Amino acid sequence: MGGKSCVRISYDGGMGNEGGTGLILGIESSCDETAAAVVRRGGEALSNVVASQMELHANYGGVVPELASREHLRNIVVIVREAMARAGVSFAELDAVAVTEGPGLAGALLVGITYAKALAYGVGKPLIGVNHLEGHIHAVLMEARARAEEAMEMPLLALVVSGGHTHLYLAKQVDASWRYQNVGKTVDDAAGEAFDKVAKLLGLGYPGGPWIDGLAGLGNPKAVEFKFGQIKTRAEKGGRSFEELARFDFSFSGIKTAVLRYVETQGMREAISVRREALAGVAKPTVADAAGLCDGRTLDLIASFQGAVVGNLLRQAFGAAEAFGARGIVVSGGVAANGELRRRFLAEGERRGLPVAFPSLALSTDNAAMIAAAAWPRFLAVEFADEGMGALPQMRLG
Ligand code: KG4
Ligand code: ZN
Repeated sequence: MGGKSCVRISYDGGMGNEGGTGLILGIESSCDETAAAVVRRGGEALSNVVASQMELHANYGGVVPELASREHLRNIVVIVREAMARAGVSFAELDAVAVTEGPGLAGALLVGITYAKALAYGVGKPLIGVNHLEGHIHAVLMEARARAEEAMEMPLLALVVSGGHTHLYLAKQVDASWRYQNVGKTVDDAAGEAFDKVAKLLGLGYPGGPWIDGLAGLGNPKAVEFKFGQIKTRAEKGGRSFEELARFDFSFSGIKTAVLRYVETQGMREAISVRREALAGVAKPTVADAAGLCDGRTLDLIASFQGAVVGNLLRQAFGAAEAFGARGIVVSGGVAANGELRRRFLAEGERRGLPVAFPSLALSTDNAAMIAAAAWPRFLAVEFADEGMGALPQMRLG
């Protein structure tokens, strides 16, 4: 334990609501996954069911909002019932129902919210609205608690990095509640979006992250040099402290353009078309299939792209952690599944004596266990939603 600002992660004691069974049903439908989970006291997942629409959207190379809403409608009742059955609990045993209220696709969010509201009303349980980004952070914290590891000290620096978000937060628990301060975000594309766009450009599958992750190890990451410039942010001056002014923002649209330029100047277009068509002809293409269709220069480009993106995420995250005196780093969101990112963050954390934590691969991508976990401190603090709760597609955290 360090100085005054260090608080252990603990949800017991001195709070407004001790709960009955401690069971919360979480529901998530913000993007292309319909998910439900039952979690006890914010730490123990009794079930965690996810219906992914990935294959549906893969045909379009990205998430199609109308299709996403329709699939959520089709899946939500089945998924919630499955989560309850696997947990072996009845609705009457729940302490609360929690649902993602934003950010995300408006129509997709509304399916989960409308269902959760009706359910909570029907079974007479409180309803809790959860920010999806806060959920990603709690995915790490709940697993750390479940493993009963040495608790991480506060404040924490949280990197939430997915297909829709690249955010840095300074996070700490104050009594029952968690407080977040955004200290960095992307000014254009999200990191996962860059993985998806570059993979598409190179004739690989969707989502792009796992393809690039799988192929990068076969190339030379030093072959192509990519530069990240300093991001100018509109920080207002005037009596504000360093903490309020310091920013660790990201930009990933430049590297995507640089990859495109490299493809053009190196005359790689034709080989990409051949690869795209060959992979389209394979029923369930694997990374090995794709590797067989990539020459050395393409593998080098993929390795260099991934190395540069991971290097940038690492510099900004550790830079922010140092600037704000964070005592540990938690990384979550779909891109947190990346092998190189995990290796390099852990190595850098070790070098600096700063603990770094990730969720398991299953909890890195969108799920509802993280929503139920983030709802637990809100339940204890009696922070319930009313019947007017709506979707907040642009919802911010901190
Ligand atoms: O958190 P998530 O499931 O959904 C969003 O909220 O966006 O993240 C999906 C994103 C996609 O952009 C996908 O390409 C990326 O996470 N991703 C990865 C890996 N696995 C998924 N990016 C890099 N390496 C991976 N192994
Ligand atoms: Zn997400």
